[in-house]
Amino acid sequence: MKTAFSLNGEAVEVDTDPTVTLLDWLRETRGLCGTKEGCNEGDCGACTVMVTGEDGARALNACILFIPQLDGKAVRTVEGLAGADGTLHPVQQAMVDHHGSQCGFCTPGFVMSMATAHRNGRTDHDDQLAGNLCRCTGYAPIIRAAEAAQAAPVPDWVMDSAVRHECALYSLGEFADWYADNPDATLVAGATDVGLWVTKQLRDLDQVGFIARCPELNKITRTDDAIHLGAGVSMTDVLEAVRDDYLSYAEMIRRYGSVQVRNAATIGGNIANGSPIGDNPPALIALGATLHLRLRDAERSMPLEDFFLAYGKQDRQPGELVTGVTVPLGQAQHRVHKLSKRFDQDISAVCGGFNVTVADGVVTQARIAFGGMAGTPHRAAAVEAALVGQPWTVETIEAATARMGEDYTPMTDMRASADYRLQAAQNMLRRYFAEVSGQPVNVLEISA
Ligand SMILES: Cc1cc2nc3c(=O)[nH]c(=O)nc-3n(C[C@H](O)[C@H](O)[C@H](O)COP(=O)(O)OP(=O)(O)OC[C@H]3O[C@@H](n4cnc5c(N)ncnc54)[C@H](O)[C@@H]3O)c2cc1C
Ligand code: FES
Ligand code: FES
Repeated sequence: MKTAFSLNGEAVEVDTDPTVTLLDWLRETRGLCGTKEGCNEGDCGACTVMVTGEDGARALNACILFIPQLDGKAVRTVEGLAGADGTLHPVQQAMVDHHGSQCGFCTPGFVMSMATAHRNGRTDHDDQLAGNLCRCTGYAPIIRAAEAAQAAPVPDWVMDSAVRHECALYSLGEFADWYADNPDATLVAGATDVGLWVTKQLRDLDQVGFIARCPELNKITRTDDAIHLGAGVSMTDVLEAVRDDYLSYAEMIRRYGSVQVRNAATIGGNIANGSPIGDNPPALIALGATLHLRLRDAERSMPLEDFFLAYGKQDRQPGELVTGVTVPLGQAQHRVHKLSKRFDQDISAVCGGFNVTVADGVVTQARIAFGGMAGTPHRAAAVEAALVGQPWTVETIEAATARMGEDYTPMTDMRASADYRLQAAQNMLRRYFAEVSGQPVNVLEISA
């Protein structure tokens, strides 16, 4: 498959197998070994590069980024971070000045994340660097370096811009027809799942279709009462789209993967993969979101919860695309709680979405959904039934939590035991009650 992009300012055109990763190509074909391979699964950030497209500069993990995903973009690696005369980028100089590197293995990835954040004017350094792991320096000198560099001007040489596309772009109709004609093809959106099939499971993917080739799938549209998110919208852009209306959802997304993962992962991929531990479905089911699908020119929509039929089985026909999701606005009582062993960049043990409407002290509507509690994300029907029509009190909440076991039989795995999951989900409902009643519940906001 032909791909055109720029690499450290030089135009390149390559014809590769569609599942060659940028990391392998850089190291093995171009001899650019500054971009490191640590985990090869998107967790450590050692392979971070800066990728500039029409939507600006983004940090991405090269290890799970297929070459065709770069079409029309500009890639900058650590070899292109200093100026042509050897002048270090301000973040590199600050890393030297503040002793931000010891063995140095993680350093190329750190400086690429820092340079991208610096170019974007981001000073939330903890969040920006949550996807970069360092095992020997410790994070304090690295954060000090990021702070020291933040006010320096952005060097001209990193101000890449998008380049021309080599690969043909498709209209939605063309893309839907292609997929219907090739229902065994693997769709690739952000490749944060599919990339691991290649790098970890060593799978050969025969035919591959890239969602990014269909610009209509990458759009966000907003009306007075809803936000429509195209299936190809990245989690970074979902966060921005929902932040003003659903802060709690946005805060959950802030802990979804890392900056690099959120820049790649799409909302459509997180739903279409049918994962029982995907973080968006419980949040969106609680909001009453509608999923949209398309098979050739036949479009259909359904409440998101109806899409998940059983573990590994979704209501999607061969050759049918997920095209997007519509999120209703105006539900100020919506909250999301994600529980994971590590605060940042960790898959949830349990993720709960809560949306209870109370009028004159009585519950009139309840939409509660969990991920991590069963083979699919789904609503807590018995809990909801125990709430609706009852006074909004601690007693009602206790009666409802007691029914959680009717809705879910969670499993024990490496993330949590079944008992722990059930108790955590019950406590999330208690927490939701406390939160919407105005009590402080966020551990980050509570201090002695
Ligand atoms: C380091 C790391 C951290 C992660 N952290 C989290 C986390 O905190 N929370 C979480 O929920 N997930 C997490 N994930 C999992 C993953 O990021 C998400 O599931 C992601 O949303 C998948 O989206 P994608 O665009 O990358 O999908 P892809 O990998 O491109 O595709 C996933 C699946 O969906 C199919 N698909 C994609 N788009 C469509 C479409 N439009 N129509 C039909 N089928 C489609 C693909 O064919 C494939 O089967 C993490 C993954 C990694 C590697
Ligand atoms: S090598 Fe670890 S994120 Fe890519
Ligand atoms: S400096 Fe050694 S891993 Fe970070």
